[in-house]
Amino acid sequence: MAGGHTLQLFFITLFFIVNAEKPSRRETLEIIIGGGDGSPPSPPPENQDCPPPPPPPCPPPPKPKPPPPPPPKVYPSPSPPPPKRSPPPPPPPPNGFESSRLALVYPVIQAFKLKITQDPKGITKTWTGKHICRDYKGFLCDTVPDKNEKALAGVKFNGFNFSGPNLHISDFLIGLPDIVFFHANSNNFVGSIPTDINKLRYFYELDLSNNKFSGSFPYQVLQANKLQFLDLRFNSFAGVVPPQVFLLNLDLLFINNNNFVQKLPENLGSTTALYLTLANNQFIGGIPPSIGQASDTLLEVLFLNNRLTGCLPYEIGLLKKATVFDVRTNLLTGPIPHSFQCLKKMEILNLGRNQFYGVVPEAVCGLAELSNFTLSYNYFTQVGPQCRKLIENGVLDVKMNCILDLPNQRSAADCARFFSMTHSCPNEKSLTYVPCSQGYSRGELESSDAEVSDPMIAPVLAPAQAPRRGSYGALSPH
Ligand SMILES: *[C@@H]1O[C@H](CO)[C@@H](O)[C@H](O)[C@H]1NC(C)=O
Ligand SMILES: *[C@@H]1O[C@H](CO)[C@@H](O)[C@H](O)[C@H]1NC(C)=O
Repeated sequence: MAGGHTLQLFFITLFFIVNAEKPSRRETLEIIIGGGDGSPPSPPPENQDCPPPPPPPCPPPPKPKPPPPPPPKVYPSPSPPPPKRSPPPPPPPPNGFESSRLALVYPVIQAFKLKITQDPKGITKTWTGKHICRDYKGFLCDTVPDKNEKALAGVKFNGFNFSGPNLHISDFLIGLPDIVFFHANSNNFVGSIPTDINKLRYFYELDLSNNKFSGSFPYQVLQANKLQFLDLRFNSFAGVVPPQVFLLNLDLLFINNNNFVQKLPENLGSTTALYLTLANNQFIGGIPPSIGQASDTLLEVLFLNNRLTGCLPYEIGLLKKATVFDVRTNLLTGPIPHSFQCLKKMEILNLGRNQFYGVVPEAVCGLAELSNFTLSYNYFTQVGPQCRKLIENGVLDVKMNCILDLPNQRSAADCARFFSMTHSCPNEKSLTYVPCSQGYSRGELESSDAEVSDPMIAPVLAPAQAPRRGSYGALSPH
């Protein structure tokens, strides 16, 4: 799609099959996290506790592509059932434009071009003439189903680093009526989201990551009822995240590296997201027990580097599909709930740098898929044979705890000081529940199935190989 020119987009592509018996629009999802060639190395994320940047994104899929590349399919497919009366044939393209839909967006693009005063990659000099689909870099066309005409379907400005005084996107975005995705990672956009964003009837993906947005959460996105992909990471949004965000029908929500300060909304578990990244903000309070309601969908959740307090609710153990759970560097306490032994798919479990204590449950160390279990810098006091095996294998890290017979532990004085204070959790008994054991009734704890009845299939640009850690990739800005 960047064919021929030097722009090199990073595609971090996730490809997954969910629930074979219930095929849904969540079957395939592409995540474009952006980037461009010739840029200086990414600045490190602010917090040094962040994991190192992920390995370079996968190279493009090795499959040879038949030249010339087929025009990308952007609009949801298969199309909704055609109306009884098929749409009238498109009117003849006016004045040499590729279609009347493209004639419509031409002045919008030209107006936006005037606002861009810095364009280090010389992108906008291709924005001349009437052949938008053929000539303009950063735009993608496809036939819009309800008009049966060629239309402007996608904006892909990742890594362009456009800037200008007051480079607002609101008028631009709302002026592109047929748009499916707006990907603008690593630019200098500011301002707000259009309030009438619900008029964009095919709008599925919004990526404003690593821009200069500030102020409160862009509540206007709550009107975008088709949205599946919302990436606001690496901006300066502040204040609170409205609870309604967790009611959107999203596959992915990245809001890490902003300045959100609030208790996590109680309805967090209503989210349909597969990837949830709230890292590197200032969230306070506990992890809402409602998180267990996301058990049918949630795959990766990152809470690291916030100021979360309280004990882990046992409902986390209901996340039977989750492969990543990372709460490192918070102020959490209490023991590891026994329910964690039900995290059958868990691969990366990071509870490091909190104030957890107690015995590390042997059954958690027995989880088959566990490849990185980090408990360092806590106050655990005991590990059994199964856990010791993981320590030997380099899977479990327990340094700087209070396990007397192991090396690299806290000082006796440090441990004594911690245990001289009383520690307890509000519902101690729940911490021994094992929801996956026989005879356990899920009762009212189980949410109804997430609503996935939308027949529209997610925009599919180029299914490719899944990288290993989708969410951790979000912790770097590009
Ligand atoms: C586990 O994850 C932590 C945090 O990302 C990382 O520092 C550590 O090297 C990982 N350990 C292994 C064995 O992969
Ligand atoms: C992007 O643009 C901003 C503002 O013009 C500039 O300060 C910054 O150095 C640029 N970054 C890159 C990676 O080119």
